Amino acid sequence: MKARMEVSGRDLLDLAADAHVLFVLEGDAPAAAVPRGLAAAVRAETERKRFKGSKGEILEVPLPASSGSARVLLAVGLGKREEFSPERLRLAAAAAARRAQALRARRVALALPEAPSGLLGPRPVARAVMEGALVGTYRFERYLTDPARRAAPVERFVLAAGPAAAVARAVLPAAEEVAAAIALARDLVNEPAAAVTPAAFARAAQRAARRTRIRATVLGPRELRRARMGALLAVGQGSEQPPRLVHLVYKPRRAKAKLALVGKGVTFDSGGYDLKTADGMLDMKCDMSGAAAVLAAVVALARLGAPVEVHGVMGLVENLVSGRAYKPGDVLTTRRGKTVEVNNTDAEGRLVLADVLDYVRTQVRPDAIVDVATLTGACVVALGPMASGVMGNDQALIDRVLAAARTSGEKLWPLPLYDEYLEQLKSDVADLKNTGGRWGGALTAGLFLREFVDRTQPWVHLDIAGPAFASTDHPYWGKGGTGAAAGTLIELGLAW
Ligand code: BES
Ligand code: MN
Ligand code: ZN
Repeated sequence: MKARMEVSGRDLLDLAADAHVLFVLEGDAPAAAVPRGLAAAVRAETERKRFKGSKGEILEVPLPASSGSARVLLAVGLGKREEFSPERLRLAAAAAARRAQALRARRVALALPEAPSGLLGPRPVARAVMEGALVGTYRFERYLTDPARRAAPVERFVLAAGPAAAVARAVLPAAEEVAAAIALARDLVNEPAAAVTPAAFARAAQRAARRTRIRATVLGPRELRRARMGALLAVGQGSEQPPRLVHLVYKPRRAKAKLALVGKGVTFDSGGYDLKTADGMLDMKCDMSGAAAVLAAVVALARLGAPVEVHGVMGLVENLVSGRAYKPGDVLTTRRGKTVEVNNTDAEGRLVLADVLDYVRTQVRPDAIVDVATLTGACVVALGPMASGVMGNDQALIDRVLAAARTSGEKLWPLPLYDEYLEQLKSDVADLKNTGGRWGGALTAGLFLREFVDRTQPWVHLDIAGPAFASTDHPYWGKGGTGAAAGTLIELGLAW
């Protein structure tokens, strides 16, 4: 069940709740923020636990029960004053919400902190607290049958916004839609590949579209063959699960621009005949994270009435091994007509995207294209598991995407597309081969994609192979799918 979020003009401790969350900057006293009657108890607990308000610190103070149920005050550290940021707040709110959930709180009241010396207005602050709390309580429990292992879900959050209640209410829909979008993307990623096949993903997209003002078109194998998507079809041909292409359109009345979002949707990546190792394959249900982020973003942008026309196009295939699978040495003819020698069947994402990008180029003709893909392990080597690589052919669009990421709080870092490295993709028998040498693998993947958009067509590529899936417990995400890029894509559309 999804938690509700409300805004109130009342004070934090006047709200009926099981847990009351207070945000504290390092060096500030939690007791200063509570009514006089509670100050002594809070001060005593602060001293006993030596609570400093440092980043990630949580102080639990039992409160006198008002109406039978035990209440608790959670003071959450924000860390240093000069490091204050929406992201810091989002993390603190998520940590507090997770703690409240672990304490089985049903109703959680959240304070709206004031940014130190007017660093930020109440809008971004309110959004960060609400988003953090909603995202923080996400759990994927569909397959846990032992009730003891399932969370007691928070039913209701109330933001105690005081005089800023009207401002907070105005940003509530954005916070809720972003959190819902991230949860949708995470659900799709966390479901096993046996459940999220290309056809199942396409059905989920159609279902989501039906609930909003989104037009959905789904292409199956026959249409894909007719559209000459030779590269996408080759990747999918080793699987019993037929491929799909999903095209979603959200069209507002007066659109400022036409934006195309393209997602890699490899519902499972075994590597094909260039088979992955057991370890390398273990989390490869996450290889449709780009498509999940695109679907989630289109839904949120439609529901929020964003001022841009948005096309979400997802290429959905399963990369397996069988008597019908594509093989190293095969030469594929892409939709664009360029031929590609397959020198590695595990570099399948760029083959899928090549055909989808060309479809977008000719069928959509957008003002900007952003593709999102768990494309290369090399990008994870370069930037680690928390950051996505950003490449593209248009600095203005790159800057827009980076600005959107500053608002969403996601870590995006630019990588170069040096023309010199295109040499690595030269083939003796075809126009291109699908992988280059050992070095600069994230870049040669980006260069490969660039061959399928026009030079004058603003295009950005996000390699989310690192942050899409958390294999260790993360304070914000927990383990598993993270919804990477969904928040940034939504921000990009809203801020256009
Ligand atoms: N889906 C993988 C990339 C990936 C790796 C995603 C780790 C998430 C975590 C992609 O299809 C792949 O296999 N890429 C190869 C490319 C290589 C063959 C040039 C890789 O990174 O090893
Ligand atoms: Mn692969
Ligand atoms: Zn892949």
